[in-house]
Amino acid sequence: MEFFLDTADVDEIREIAAWGILDGVTTNPSLIKKSGRDFKEVVAEIASICDGPISAEVTAMDTAGMIEQGLALKAELPENVIIKIPCTPEGLAATKVLSDEGIKTNVTLIFSASQALMAAKAGATYVSPFIGRIDDTGHDGMELIAEIMNTWANYDIDTKVLAASIRHPTHVLQCIQLGAHTATMPAKTFRQLMSHPLTDKGLEGFMRDWAEVEAAGNA
Ligand code: G3P
Repeated sequence: MEFFLDTADVDEIREIAAWGILDGVTTNPSLIKKSGRDFKEVVAEIASICDGPISAEVTAMDTAGMIEQGLALKAELPENVIIKIPCTPEGLAATKVLSDEGIKTNVTLIFSASQALMAAKAGATYVSPFIGRIDDTGHDGMELIAEIMNTWANYDIDTKVLAASIRHPTHVLQCIQLGAHTATMPAKTFRQLMSHPLTDKGLEGFMRDWAEVEAAGNA
């Protein structure tokens, strides 16, 4: 399973990339706003930190504009940048054109299995269903992941299912059980997935005992 960071904060990306298991990064216009930095400059820096796919989102609402922005981003930014496109009819058409050009895409804002399947038919490299935002409406976002994975099992689909809008480690663990290909998450969730109080307690005990081994001159 691929683990992506969902942030445009380069300090967080450097921190998690140092762990050696970061597979990619997703950004969106809200995350770029939060970074307070120039869009292309920050995406280029992210792409230099992590050599996996880095999603940069188009902001045009029409197909021609999305294609134009997607081509410009590919021309100006590092090779590992992929084009994030909203799941609208216009976005679907842009995804088809860019995919036919061999450009990798991530179709975002997916809230139904039918949207995911249609984006896959357009040639999307990734489809991004939003779990947390469905949970926020009082429904179970994980049911959407299950539905999409069942759909994928019925057909021969190359598109990867990128679970997004992840809010806590349980979301990630449930995605793993359902076989989602990729999960994009905030740095906080990444840290929570690696943290266990018994690891900390166990290590503390080992280090305390080792200090005594050293003190006895037996190291
Ligand atoms: O990258 C898009 C997605 O992960 C957004 O998450 O927390 O704003 O719903 P959130």
